[in-house]
Amino acid sequence: MPKPIIIANWKMAINLSQQLNLASQFSKVISPDYLKLVDVVVCPSSVALFPISSVLPKAMMMGGQNIFWQSLGSYTGEISAGMLKEVGCDFCIIGHSERKENFGETDSIINKKISACLDVGLSPILCIGESWEQRGQNQSSQIIFYQLTSALSGINLTTEDKLVIAYEPIWSIGSGQLPDSDDLLDILNTIEQTLSDLYPASILKNNIRLVYGGSINKQTVVNFSDIDNLSGFLVGGASLEVNSFTEIIKSVKLKGA
Ligand code: PGA
Repeated sequence: MPKPIIIANWKMAINLSQQLNLASQFSKVISPDYLKLVDVVVCPSSVALFPISSVLPKAMMMGGQNIFWQSLGSYTGEISAGMLKEVGCDFCIIGHSERKENFGETDSIINKKISACLDVGLSPILCIGESWEQRGQNQSSQIIFYQLTSALSGINLTTEDKLVIAYEPIWSIGSGQLPDSDDLLDILNTIEQTLSDLYPASILKNNIRLVYGGSINKQTVVNFSDIDNLSGFLVGGASLEVNSFTEIIKSVKLKGA
């Protein structure tokens, strides 16, 4: 079973000093024993990455929330994958639905960003998920297939590369609504089948992890604790509360222990 992973997506939810404060609480409360068993990745705002890198314990990892796909150049306001790597990140969230909705991010942009991450050894956390309307029209599997194949088009994964696929139904993000475990299993099967047409079984097993995101907190996390092909969670709101986030890590750690 792959090592479980819990990702905190702080979005733009709190200011810089609150982020530093939260990172230092994480470093006090999240036990090094958990970090041996679970990969914990904190994704703060980009301006917080440098100060936070000296606050988090070494075993806790950092991720960016976005990059531009070019490595260097005249791109005012942008940050490259290489810069995230330099500041100490190992991961980057790519294609979050909030970026699609607010910044016009398309499947082809997402594809370039995935490639840029892998080029510098940053592991992409690729977000995919259907809207409420698409779900109502029974299109979830089709949408997932389409998003995955476009994002990963032409992307060759080597044994050095690590990829996280985060299934985040848009209607579940921040809403308190979650899919039931049968629906989630169906989607995970679609993801696995799609990936198995793209990559060899050994890459699927060793280099790709599937996580769920959307309204996960210390109570709802137990809904999915029996799903074996799920390696962890991408957590928004509940990652801003030390206790809730720690309980989520504990529940996954217990599963892996
Ligand atoms: P949520 O957000 O946990 O607050 O629903 C998840 C996400 O957007 O990554």
